[in-house]
Amino acid sequence: MYIMGQEEVDAVRRVIESGQLFRYLGGNESESGRFEAEWASKIGTRYAVAVTSGTAALITGLVGMGIGPGDEVIVPAYTFMATALGPLAVGAVPVIAEVDTSLTIDPADVERKITPRTKAIIPVHMVGLPCNMDAIMDIARRHTLKVLEDACQADGGSYGGKRLGSIGDAGAFSFNHYKIMTCGEGGALVTDNREIYERALIVHDGGCAFRDHASGITTPFFAGMNFRINEILSAILRVQLARLDGMLDAMLTEKRLMMQALEGTGDFVFNPIHDVEGDCGTTLGMLFQTPGRMREVLANLEAAGVAASTPIDSGKHVYTNWDPILNKMGSHHPDLNAYHLAKGSVDYSADMCPKTLDYLARTIFLYTNPARSPAELDVMIEKVKSALE
Ligand SMILES: Cc1ncc(COP(=O)(O)O)c(C=O)c1O
Repeated sequence: MYIMGQEEVDAVRRVIESGQLFRYLGGNESESGRFEAEWASKIGTRYAVAVTSGTAALITGLVGMGIGPGDEVIVPAYTFMATALGPLAVGAVPVIAEVDTSLTIDPADVERKITPRTKAIIPVHMVGLPCNMDAIMDIARRHTLKVLEDACQADGGSYGGKRLGSIGDAGAFSFNHYKIMTCGEGGALVTDNREIYERALIVHDGGCAFRDHASGITTPFFAGMNFRINEILSAILRVQLARLDGMLDAMLTEKRLMMQALEGTGDFVFNPIHDVEGDCGTTLGMLFQTPGRMREVLANLEAAGVAASTPIDSGKHVYTNWDPILNKMGSHHPDLNAYHLAKGSVDYSADMCPKTLDYLARTIFLYTNPARSPAELDVMIEKVKSALE
């Protein structure tokens, strides 16, 4: 969500004038080191590693957990494709599970999709909506699976009083242009687990062995990559973090007002929310009885100038549009293609998750706006009521 002000401009200026753009130039005394400490504290984990994107956060998390060739990782059928690309990047294959009417991963289908090769689940807190983490953690415990929360769309949300990202073994966040907090492109991994943290540090920075903090790492060094964040992005993120609570509060307040005003006004139900207090409040889901009726109301909303969409149209967020995955093109080189390294067969088809397609095709999303006035909100609600007639 692009909410930026003079504070971000001042932060960028400060970094440029300091002459220190590389995060490890001054050891851990850096904007990046401070952001990591502040983010870990906000989410409630021991560790945070700031990285270049949410995708990088997912990859560092999976490497941190030791996921690799021959392993299967369960992901939801409704999420940005990056959630499924993460396992492929580390040599594992994504197994696609249905979402339920909450539009988050269906625990019952997760359980059905478990095989002897399953090593991890990536529940995704889509559009700021918390997954059913009690059910997911219960499945993970019973089957000895790791849980990597994809909280890329849910910066600052919570479930059962715990921040999203702190409930599973690790959590991944994105700070790209469209996310609740943004620095253009960025991400972070959080965890309480020292081994995951050390492995994430190593993979995110191929030069890790040269850094001041290398002597504290007991994990044997392996070849890493470069997902290092830079000082300008971290400085922006520190300002964005200071805005976060206010934004979440404003969005959730608006969402509650919208729900109160729209409850019982038409032939829809709200998509269920697993924790109404922990919901980020970015998006309100309205579930209609048929795709035809959904389209009719959506057209009315568009004609009235109300910002609205349907998740079935959200391109790479729907598994049927994940071409590299459906075609099993898991890598740029055949010898690195996770599908060739797999120990069992994973099959995909466009109709493999019919419930997901049905729910997405019957849902309309309305959006909150922290910058909107109460009078503007009233006008918008009246337009939605008319669109439902
Ligand atoms: C649910 C989800 N997971 C992962 C990602 C990947 O994040 P990034 O674009 O920062 O790599 C995104 C971003 O769109 C996302 O929405």
